[in-house]
Amino acid sequence: MEQKRSNFSGKLGFVLATAGSAVGLGNIWRFPYLAAKHGGGMFLLTYLILVLTFGFTLACTEILIGRKTGQSAVKAFNTLNKKWSFVGWLAAIVPIIILPYYSVIGGWIFKYLFAFASGQATATAGDGYFTGFIDKIYEPIGWFLLFIGITALIVLFGVEKGIEKASKIMMPVLVVLTLFIAIYSACMPGALKGVLYYITPDFSHFSVTTVLAALGQLFYSMSLAMGIMITYGSYMKKDFNVVSSVHQVEIFDTGIAFLAGLMIVPAVFSFSGGSEDALSKGPSLMFITLPKVFQSMPGGTIIGIIFFLMVLFAALTSSISLMETVVSVIQDKFKLNRKVTCLIVFTGSVILGIPSSLGNGVWESIKIFGFAFLDFFDFISNSVLMPIVALLTCVFVGYIIKPKTLIEEAEISAEFKGKKFFSVVIRYIAPICIILILGFSVLEAFGIIKV
Ligand code: PHE
Repeated sequence: MEQKRSNFSGKLGFVLATAGSAVGLGNIWRFPYLAAKHGGGMFLLTYLILVLTFGFTLACTEILIGRKTGQSAVKAFNTLNKKWSFVGWLAAIVPIIILPYYSVIGGWIFKYLFAFASGQATATAGDGYFTGFIDKIYEPIGWFLLFIGITALIVLFGVEKGIEKASKIMMPVLVVLTLFIAIYSACMPGALKGVLYYITPDFSHFSVTTVLAALGQLFYSMSLAMGIMITYGSYMKKDFNVVSSVHQVEIFDTGIAFLAGLMIVPAVFSFSGGSEDALSKGPSLMFITLPKVFQSMPGGTIIGIIFFLMVLFAALTSSISLMETVVSVIQDKFKLNRKVTCLIVFTGSVILGIPSSLGNGVWESIKIFGFAFLDFFDFISNSVLMPIVALLTCVFVGYIIKPKTLIEEAEISAEFKGKKFFSVVIRYIAPICIILILGFSVLEAFGIIKV
């Protein structure tokens, strides 16, 4: 079924739509807990270096592949070289894995919004509130179903436009609010140590795991290595400046992640002295720390309500782009109609999401390679599949179609500043680094080396 491709009406439209997919739970929930866990400033520095090198190169690559072919991932690779269409397929698996557990976290946001709006803000700040919630069986699943149900309805009725419009208003509010909470949090008693931990790189914290975590986070946060940016690029008009759009999206995405870290990491120090245990809370960190910050603020309940509402919108724009991608791949492949496809994707995601939800409570004792379900899906997609897709994409562009092909595509609109850098990263630096990072982490996972 040939679908008509609509174009973004302007560069601003493209940047905002891309940022809508990029800015989400990755920035606000995932980045802070990784930074807390992997050595604060050391993680931040590693992440920034990766954004400027890998992030820039891969984002340009994917958008240019999309714009050149005018097609989404699977078909785009196929058009450029039949033998490489498997990379498109591999990329398509990633959102299938991410969507279910993403929606489980989306459900947690819903729960907290509801708790704040119904006057239980104080309770949420209590120790054990979060654990008490995820230990339950039905309640978290209920919120998860609500989140994924809304996502599916929006995708089914194609009303993304409405959500995007709303999020154009919500996004700036989110930025201002995050900035405000970050400043507040950094000024709490005892928080200064946390600010320093967050911004000063301590090289004794450096390890291959830090780099792998930062690399996975980069792909996740910028929605790379899963075909999404290829699709967005395919909607881009030929006269847009790709390179400068990528810079803007990067600044936006990284800026919000940085502020979210500043909002959460110092607060951990303020409330629990920054003990190793408090810092390594993982996925639950934001839900344990933020309510305490709100609790200590004048007007904290209202601020909490607005905050969780904004985060919910940011999460929805991302989950919509995830589901849209999955739906369009399945629809194209099996020539199904949209309604049936949405239903299949919804049902599949519910089945895959339930273990992620239960894995933090009643199924806590079930571990896959030592991971709880949610962390396992997160690890497989971010630390295994995405680096592999990114590696294959680099090899494909670097040696099969050659960087020149994409540079020419970029230069239809404007001079590609940094094209030499782009070629070097894509041909040498990125593939070598990804192989090293993946190799070391596999050896480490099997206990062969200790890094
Ligand atoms: N980039 C989004 C975030 O940071 C997550 C996401 C990943 C969205 C993949 C779409 C596709 O939350």
